[in-house]
Amino acid sequence: MDLATYLAELDATAAAAENALESAASADDVEAARIEFLGAKAGRIKSLQKGLGQIDKADKPEAGKRFQALKSQIDAALSAAKDKLGDNQQAASPKKPKSQKESVAAVPGAFDPTADPPEARMRLGHIHPITQTITALQEIMGRLGFSVAEGPEVEDEWHNFEALNIAASHPARDPLENFYLHTASAAAGQPGKSDKPLLLRSQTSTVQIRVMETVPPPVRVISLGRVYRPDTADATHYPMFHQIEGLMVDRGVTMADLKSVLRLFAMSYFGGDVHIRFRPSFFPFTEPSVEVDMSWKDGWMEMGGAGMVDPHVLKSVGYDPDEVTGFAFGLGVERVCMRRHGIDDIRELYRNDVRFLEQF
Ligand code: DAH
Repeated sequence: MDLATYLAELDATAAAAENALESAASADDVEAARIEFLGAKAGRIKSLQKGLGQIDKADKPEAGKRFQALKSQIDAALSAAKDKLGDNQQAASPKKPKSQKESVAAVPGAFDPTADPPEARMRLGHIHPITQTITALQEIMGRLGFSVAEGPEVEDEWHNFEALNIAASHPARDPLENFYLHTASAAAGQPGKSDKPLLLRSQTSTVQIRVMETVPPPVRVISLGRVYRPDTADATHYPMFHQIEGLMVDRGVTMADLKSVLRLFAMSYFGGDVHIRFRPSFFPFTEPSVEVDMSWKDGWMEMGGAGMVDPHVLKSVGYDPDEVTGFAFGLGVERVCMRRHGIDDIRELYRNDVRFLEQF
């Protein structure tokens, strides 16, 4: 094919393409034109490209240049046609509001069910750090085979003191050290009603007695809950706080078991390298008795008391101290929680200031 014929064909194709794209009234028209001219298999551009091969060698550069120019021209016409169509279609249909919100809000005073709620109401609540700690401790002790026992917060003196070997003369029983309840039946001496003194439990050791009274050995339980003492609130005291009580009774239970369980417990809760230290102490319901210290990061901290269940206590619940032995411990839940989270004032936990609580 000679150059002049080829160039004439290019021009004719350009005109036809421009014409088709300019008169396209819909996206379908544009697409049909695109296929006719730029279609990869049978488009007219494709066959013009093939035609290039039959041009004399000397004329090839000129023919190639014109072919490229035609391609660009048709590409540009295609984009222009698409743009034009897009604009027209938007202009043809009335503009939709971006969301329903805009149209409702446009009516003054109308209730707008689609409005965003005020930010404050979107804030998610938090589980209280003490509740989080209780859940964590229950899970850890559960893995060590301890099940959870519960007892009442209003107790009698038998479970809070006597069965625990705390004699009537013991200073811990002083009414000033406890929240005794003024019960109506006790005051009126009503016949048929119990007039035994009741108090808010001062320790979760009460649950040890309640468990052993109802379940024969072996036992392996923990109990977590509130205890009450008339202390003045300061950075380390609060008139209500929580304890975790542990009790394991079986044949051949020893102090070594106690220390292992406490160490595993502390390592799981704090993570990493925790050490346990026992200091000799005295509790009426354990013999021997110890204070439990734990070291984590910097320095030792006192966690609570522990020991081997006193044979008197085992007898008072009907266990045979010649058959079984047991250990018990009672730790402060606030203490472990405060230590882990670096809280230095127990009152923060009960002020219910959301700015404090939402950090946990
Ligand atoms: N009940 C004790 C207290 O509140 C703590 C305690 C000490 C619990 C020794 C125990 C124990 O089970 O064996 O101070």
